[in-house]
Amino acid sequence: MSLTSDPEWWRDAVVYQIYPRSFADSNGDGIGDLPGITAKVPYLQKLGVDAVWLSPFYPSALADGGYDVDDYRAVDPKIGTLEQFDTMVAALHAAGIGVIVDIVPNHSSNQHVWFQEALASPKGSPARNRYIFRDGVGPNGDQPPTDWRAAFGGSVWEPVGDGQFYLHLFTPEQPDWNWDNPEVRADFLETLRFWSDRGVDGFRIDVASALAKDLAEPLPDKATLDAMKTGPNHPLYDRDELVEIYAEWRQVFNSYDPPRFAVGEVWLEDPARTARYATSQSLGQAFNFDLLRADFRASDFKAIVATNLEVAEMAESSSTWVLSNHDVVRHASRYGLPLTVPGAPYEGQAPTWDRDRQWLLTRGTQPPEDMVLGLSRAKAATAFILALPGSTYVYQGEELGLREVADLPDTARQDPTFFRSPGYDVGRDGCRVPIPWEPAGPSFGFGPGAAHLPQPAWFAGHSVAVEAAEPASTLWFYRQALAARRELLAGLGASAAAGRLEWLDAPDGVLHFRRGTWHCVTNFAVAEPVELPAGELVLASGDLSDGARLPEATTAWLRA
Ligand code: GLC
Ligand code: CA
Repeated sequence: MSLTSDPEWWRDAVVYQIYPRSFADSNGDGIGDLPGITAKVPYLQKLGVDAVWLSPFYPSALADGGYDVDDYRAVDPKIGTLEQFDTMVAALHAAGIGVIVDIVPNHSSNQHVWFQEALASPKGSPARNRYIFRDGVGPNGDQPPTDWRAAFGGSVWEPVGDGQFYLHLFTPEQPDWNWDNPEVRADFLETLRFWSDRGVDGFRIDVASALAKDLAEPLPDKATLDAMKTGPNHPLYDRDELVEIYAEWRQVFNSYDPPRFAVGEVWLEDPARTARYATSQSLGQAFNFDLLRADFRASDFKAIVATNLEVAEMAESSSTWVLSNHDVVRHASRYGLPLTVPGAPYEGQAPTWDRDRQWLLTRGTQPPEDMVLGLSRAKAATAFILALPGSTYVYQGEELGLREVADLPDTARQDPTFFRSPGYDVGRDGCRVPIPWEPAGPSFGFGPGAAHLPQPAWFAGHSVAVEAAEPASTLWFYRQALAARRELLAGLGASAAAGRLEWLDAPDGVLHFRRGTWHCVTNFAVAEPVELPAGELVLASGDLSDGARLPEATTAWLRA
C-alpha cells in the first residue's frame, strides 16, 4: 500500500485520529497545534500508520470542540496558519502518511459570517434561507415550532428575538445549514476543492446522514419523531436527497488524481441504508460504530464482523473498525467494567452505552474499573480488528493504553454535553485529555506549559518516553502489530483472502478466523488458557501461558 501508487490505499489503511487541540502543543499556550503535529511525524512514522485524520482545526469558538466551524477554509489562529498546515502535510507525505481532514456540513457555528448575516437580515430574506428559520407558534408566537430535543440536551430551536427560531440539532452555537439552498451546496464544493488543492488525501464527513431535511408542515411531535425509523421518510436523517448531494461531491473527489477519498460518520440501524453512503458513487466508505457499543464478547464481535463485511460487500467498499474516538469512553476503560452489574440501572440487556455513561456519572468509581483486565481486553480487541479485512481507525493515546480520565474536576470540563444535560451526562472530555509524551514537566511533554485539560498523575507511566523504553509496553505492541499487519497484508497481495475471512472451529468464548495463511485467534472468555492452532506465532497481545497456550483476553496471530 502506498499513497502515491495506489488510489485504493484507504481500503486497508490504518488511520490515526488526531484531536489537534490535545495532541502536541508547540508554543506553550496549552492548546495543541499544527507545528506540534509536524514535530511528531517521526513518532507517527515509527508507529506505522498509513494516514492521519485530523478532527477540526478551523477557526472556532469551541462551543463543541471545534465541530462548530466559523470558517471552513482557514486554520484557527490558536492552532496555526495555512502555511503551517502546508508544512505539516508535506512532512506527513514525505513520511508516506496520508492526510484526512474533517468536514462538518450539517451545521456551521453561530460565528460564521453567513449566520451573522442571517441574524442581521429580516425574516424571509435570502440570508436566512441558508439556514433553517421558522416562525414561533402558540398564542403569542413565542413557542418553538416543535418539542424536538437537541443531541446534547435542550430544544433544537433557538429564538432570535423577532418571532423566528432557527434549527440546531446540536448546540445553539451550531445552526443547521439548509441543504435545499444551492449557495450552501456550492460553498461546500468549494471547501472540498480548497483542501484537495492543498494536497489532502481525503475527508471524514461529520454527521453525514443528517444534512438533507424535510421540514414541510405539519411537523411531527417528538414522540412521533422518536418512533420513526430513519430512512427516506424521516424528516431529519438518512433522506434520499443525500444521494444527490454526495454524487456531486464525488465528482469533485474524482476530478483529482488520485481521487480523494471520504468516510462518512453514519449511525444507522439498517445495514443496507448504511451501504448507500459507502459506494464509489457516494462517499466511498462509511464508519461502523458497532464495536463502540459492544461488550467484549465473542458472539457479539462475530455478529458485528458478519454484518459489516456484508455492508462493505454491498457497497463494494471496505469496512472500518473502530474501538475508540473523541466521542466515547476509551476502550481500555470500557472493557475494565463488568459486562453486567447486578442492581445497576443498566443490568442485563441495557446497552453498553448507558453503562459507560452511568459509570462516568460516578466519576469512574462505580463499578470499579479493572485496569489490568481492561487493558488486556483492549489490546486483544485491537489485534482482533487489525486482522480483519478493511481499515482500522486508531484514536490518539490508545497506543499508550490510555484509560478514560473519568474524574476531571467539573470546573475543568469543556464539553457542551456536560453543560446542557446537567445531572445525566458529564460528557466527552475524559477521552480528550492532552496526551503524555514525557514522564514529567508541566504537561507531561504535551507542551512547554500547562495543558488545556488537566492530566492525571498516572499519565507519567503511560508517556511515550516511558513506553518507548519498555518492550512490554502497549506502544511496542502497537508498533509490532502494525508492522506485522503490513507484512501479512503484503503476503496476501491481491488474493481473494485479502478481502475475505474464513471462520474456523473454536471453543465457546474463542474466535478463530483466517485470511489465507494469516490466522487470528482471540480468547474472549475462557478462563483456562486454550491451545493455539499449529503455526508460526507472529504476534500476541499478551503473555502466552507456557509460551504456547492463549490466556483469557488475549489475541494471537499465526502464520500457518
Ligand atoms: C459528530 C462529532 C462530535 C460532534 C458532533 C456534532 O458526532 O464526532 O464530536 O459533537 O458530530 O458536530
Ligand atoms: Ca499551542
